[in-house]
Amino acid sequence: MELVLMLTFGFLEDPSDILIFFGRFHPLVVHLPIGFLILAIIAQFASRWPKFQPLKPFLHYLWGLGAISAFLAVLFGYLLSLSGDYDTDTLFWHQWSGIMVLVLSLACYSLFKKQGKNTPFVKWPLVVLVAITITYTGHLGGNLTHGSTYLLEYAPNPVRGMAGLPPKKEPRPKVTLLDSADIYLDLVQPMMDAKCISCHNPGKKKGGLLLTSHTELMKGGESGEVVTMGDAEASELFRRIALPEDHDDFMPSEGKRPLTEEEVDIIEFWITTGALPKGYVTELDSKKEIIETVNTYLGLDQNTIFGQTVEPPNTMLIDSLTDNGFIINRLMRDNYFLDANFSLSEREITQADLDLLMRLKAQLVWLDLSHSGVTDEHLQQLGQLENLVKLNLSGNAISDTGIQHLSKLTHLESLNLYNTKVSGELLNLLPKLGKLKSIYLWKTHIGDTLAIQLQEEYKNLTIVYERENFE
Ligand code: HEC
Repeated sequence: MELVLMLTFGFLEDPSDILIFFGRFHPLVVHLPIGFLILAIIAQFASRWPKFQPLKPFLHYLWGLGAISAFLAVLFGYLLSLSGDYDTDTLFWHQWSGIMVLVLSLACYSLFKKQGKNTPFVKWPLVVLVAITITYTGHLGGNLTHGSTYLLEYAPNPVRGMAGLPPKKEPRPKVTLLDSADIYLDLVQPMMDAKCISCHNPGKKKGGLLLTSHTELMKGGESGEVVTMGDAEASELFRRIALPEDHDDFMPSEGKRPLTEEEVDIIEFWITTGALPKGYVTELDSKKEIIETVNTYLGLDQNTIFGQTVEPPNTMLIDSLTDNGFIINRLMRDNYFLDANFSLSEREITQADLDLLMRLKAQLVWLDLSHSGVTDEHLQQLGQLENLVKLNLSGNAISDTGIQHLSKLTHLESLNLYNTKVSGELLNLLPKLGKLKSIYLWKTHIGDTLAIQLQEEYKNLTIVYERENFE
């Protein structure tokens, strides 16, 4: 109390802050008594051998240093405990065994100072007791900071069993197929593990809430249940993660890395569909509300094309294309994927140009042939450029007859058909272009009705129609 008064005097506006500031040095300071006392213990035993006899007159200095540093550790530890961040039971025992270390090391100091005169009967048990108390205090301290499960988290199962812990959780295999993604086990719990359990674990049960498993989560915290099955809006957990970040109740608190928008959406979906302990996302999501988000979140929508390594293109070939008016760019430093652009050329594309392009079949992923005089016949050949991810055909006299040849372009993510004559054939083409994310259909022969129909069928496809996203 005196200390508090002393520090409050005058210039400090918030005494508790400055105290806790010093308190945070505790984890650093504790290493001093540990070091000195262990050295004292070793020296004490060593001095029984004739070779180390000369140590004897100095032993009490080691105990003295141990006691002084133990005092500092106790003091800083007390300040840290003022933050109230710790599990009170563990804290109680940690604090008192820490004080015990201090008392015992003082006892050793005074005992060994009057060396020789004391009885060895007290001496050795006392030294052993110091060793045990340090170990015990240190262990509890570790539990306070890391949670009581920390130490044995990676221990072999038999060892965990002896300590009364459940067998290790088998890590979930990485999800590679959307169909095998589990809403809780593969999505919600890993989010909790990454962003919440540092404060909501058995050692640090902030708000009385554990987020280490579905069972614990459903038990709720100080203010009762945090999840109302089927109703995200009514769930405290959802309310807290969906608040503006600067709100006092926002979770994770203390400016820790927040959940992303996608993560919040997935948690909302999980609660809305009943906050189940397990269940396949694809089965729960009959209305396909969250599938796309999950797909992106798990990184399953990456175009497999970019996982391949392609050969460097023939330089003579690149030179001829450049001479013919193509602008060719390499897209990645460590691979040979290419972007070819003919839209700035003043002449129309010819059969000879296409033959050259065909020879870049493996490398060509972006192709811009807008306003290049492409015809329906040309499309038959272009349809064989199977690695294309982006294709711009705007401003060409092409129609349904031509675009039917594009059905093999299964890697295509973006297709620009602005200002062409395409129409109904799209209904046959789109189902084959599974990776397609955006399509430009302004100024085509597609009418409003068909555009609306397409948008309804392909909810996650960005259809650019009438200059705006058609949504
Ligand atoms: C930096 C520490 C910290 C992190 C990280 C953290 N929380 Fe908290 N949480 C707290 C504290 C402290 C409280 C109690 C004070 C309060 O209610 O705001 C709390 C309380 C809560 C409560 C209310 C419990 C009740 O019954 O009153 C919920 C729900 C919650 N947290 C959810 C989360 C979720 C979800 C995450 C991860 C996205 C998270 N927390 C991450 C510190 C944290």
